[in-house]
Amino acid sequence: MKDLKITVKTLYGFEDILQEELKELGYDKTEKLNRAVQVKGGWEDVYRLNYRCRLAISVLVEVASFYIQKEKDLYDEAKKIDWTSFFEMEKTFAVKGAVFSNLFTHTQYPFLLVKDAIADVFRDKFDARPNVNIKAPQVMFDVYIKEKSVTVSLNTSGIPLFQRGYRQEVGDAPMNEVLAAGLLRLSNWDKKSPLIDPMCGSGTLAIEAALLAADIPSMVERQHYAFKNFKSFDAEAWEKVQSEVNRRPVDLGFKIFASDIDAGMLQKAKRNSRMAPIGNMISFTVKDVFELEPPSEKGLLICNPPYGERMGEDEDIAELYQKLGDAFKNSFVGYDCWVISSNIDAIKSVGLKASKKIKVFNGNLECSFREFKVFEGSKKIKKPSEKEDKDEQSVQSKKIEPVKGEQIKKDRLVERKQEHPIEKRERPVEKKIEPVPYRKAASKYKPVNQEEANELDDKKPEAKEKEPEEKVQPKQKEDSAEEKMSSDEENLSLKEKIAKMKKYRSRD
Ligand SMILES: C[S@@+](CC[C@H](N)C(=O)[O-])C[C@H]1O[C@@H](n2cnc3c(N)ncnc32)[C@H](O)[C@@H]1O
Repeated sequence: MKDLKITVKTLYGFEDILQEELKELGYDKTEKLNRAVQVKGGWEDVYRLNYRCRLAISVLVEVASFYIQKEKDLYDEAKKIDWTSFFEMEKTFAVKGAVFSNLFTHTQYPFLLVKDAIADVFRDKFDARPNVNIKAPQVMFDVYIKEKSVTVSLNTSGIPLFQRGYRQEVGDAPMNEVLAAGLLRLSNWDKKSPLIDPMCGSGTLAIEAALLAADIPSMVERQHYAFKNFKSFDAEAWEKVQSEVNRRPVDLGFKIFASDIDAGMLQKAKRNSRMAPIGNMISFTVKDVFELEPPSEKGLLICNPPYGERMGEDEDIAELYQKLGDAFKNSFVGYDCWVISSNIDAIKSVGLKASKKIKVFNGNLECSFREFKVFEGSKKIKKPSEKEDKDEQSVQSKKIEPVKGEQIKKDRLVERKQEHPIEKRERPVEKKIEPVPYRKAASKYKPVNQEEANELDDKKPEAKEKEPEEKVQPKQKEDSAEEKMSSDEENLSLKEKIAKMKKYRSRD
């Protein structure tokens, strides 16, 4: 079957580079959506996209689309779908998604309706129903509602694809792996000349760069994919997809250099790199960026300095960025130097004219990714001019303030909604995203535990399936926090939802 409607979801602003990547993977006919690109294909393509697409957050396969006039229609329409054709009763499932519709007053309620429809379809056929597992379902369904239009899809990835499987240890502010892969593509690195990350932290950029240059899929170490749990799973096609690619280290003929001032951090980066099949492609050094001597060959520098999220760090941070600019000018002549930061005032302190400025998001933080081309005689700008400020296309200078848990929760929900594709080239949510210091947000919340998930599931708590094979990486503190937050959200409104559900049932 070659006519599955496949939606590859990605991060804000990555649609064009995702289309480019898909073209390289052999997918010429693509349709750009918001934070997503759509292609047609078969199951083999679904596996290939999950395995090889570095910019994908998840890969969805559409199973139904319909219109509704009122809440109840959602249950009725979902009940018409033969859910038993997708998965076995023994598998746990979850329904997630995004809702942009006035028909629903509670964002989680539509998912509850679809979950009930699934359970009822099973019950009608087998007199029993599969369990729900919110945190670690074996199969996942995606419900996207835009006004009266509903699209139901299989989420064939399960846990997001930025969980590559190689990153075991992280620092305070690790970078999402999909963001790292996207920045490398946006930087136009030629994959033939040295790449330097002088503030490498847990090594995400360097490891993604090594995998990219060696043409090894970023997902090479990942074991869990939800598609393996659907009835449609074709083990032979999956084998074929895996056999198409290189999975071994290669001699690149140049080095990737990763360094950090923090020896402990560098150890973590090294250990992470050992989890990926990249041999000695990366050279690791404990070094202050200001003492770094670049290799004689010209190359590309890319760095993710601290953003100065903590109160009272402004001056230190401005100085750090200013010294970074000096180091570029003095030691990296001939290099393209890229910096990503959410701290726009600080990034201006680099004091060199940016040849490119690209708006990206690092978690909830709106960031600017800037290129500084360093030539012989490059001059530092004494004070960024008015014009320089105006050149700032879409990134506004924002002061990062710590926010209260409630605000973080709201922002996370907005962020989760925004991950879902809607109409072409339109920002999904008008609401302004306040910058959230994700390092702090993460530390506030514990991951949701099974008991909490069971409470939400409201049925058969005794036979819960375990987490899919994929180990939740420590980096995913942030993601676990998100899980917890979404679970909190559901807990808070559980009574309300059940009451509503009962009312709705009694009307039948
Ligand atoms: C935002 S983190 C980088 C995170 C990294 N991209 C990752 O995925 O884990 C910033 C890093 O810069 C390092 N750093 C700060 N000042 C430095 C300096 N003067 N020289 C080198 N590294 C520095 C910190 O130790 C920290 O690991």
